[in-house]
Amino acid sequence: MNLVLLGAPGAGKGTQAEKISERYGLVHISTGDIFRENIKKETEIGLLAKSYIDRGELVPDEVTCAIVKDRLRWKDCKNGFILDGFPRNLFQAERLNVFGHIDGVINIEIDPKLLMDRLLGRRVCEKCGANYHISLLGGKTVCEKCGGTLIQRKDDNPETVAARLKVYEAQTAPLTEYYGNKKGILMTFQSTEEPPEALFREIAAALDGKFKK
Ligand code: AP5
Ligand code: MG
Repeated sequence: MNLVLLGAPGAGKGTQAEKISERYGLVHISTGDIFRENIKKETEIGLLAKSYIDRGELVPDEVTCAIVKDRLRWKDCKNGFILDGFPRNLFQAERLNVFGHIDGVINIEIDPKLLMDRLLGRRVCEKCGANYHISLLGGKTVCEKCGGTLIQRKDDNPETVAARLKVYEAQTAPLTEYYGNKKGILMTFQSTEEPPEALFREIAAALDGKFKK
């Protein structure tokens, strides 16, 4: 099963992708995580990506598509993958049609009023990248998976978030229509103030119904 996850910044793509990947044994491929890893290691890709990410803009398509195309060739993708944050515009979606096969697209919709709080309240583990929200942390300041320090992502500030939301509306939101026109692959869900597990139950029920053997 090869899946794509669509949704605005802060909709909960990473949170749900982690749960979906664990339950169905899919490789979780987040282009945002790949760029952040490269920034940390100060690679050439990292240096290039940083300037775009800090401004809330998309990293150039050629760079992003080459990374995903290469990653999908790895052996571990044979049993299925979930793409989180790719494709992000029509050009990337068309390229993905050429180098990858997609069985389903999960679109997470969310009331824009919830997004700022989700993003400004997000904390990530400096060491392993695990994702938390302060409202669910109960005052904890270290990662429950590896003990690493929890920090804020550099692009989770009001100015960059506003830029990311604009880019999403202009370039990524049209992908719901694009995939909606491809028969039967788009599944749309609402992210609410319920905890992440509630949304995951809905997604899992839809995937079980659609892809049961
Ligand atoms: P990326 O890392 O993909 O960021 P994003 O799309 O802006 O999405 P986020 O990761 O911010 O949000 P999310 O939907 O994953 O939400 P999360 O689960 O964390 O991309 C970053 C940058 O990289 C881009 O701006 C761009 O520059 C570049 N880039 C990446 N892909 C690219 C591409 N294809 N092409 C070009 N450039 C690219 O949840 C958010 C918070 O809410 C967390 O704190 C979480 O714990 C919390 N939360 C989630 N669900 C709930 C809930 N139900 N209740 C309460 N809290 C919740
Ligand atoms: Mg994410």
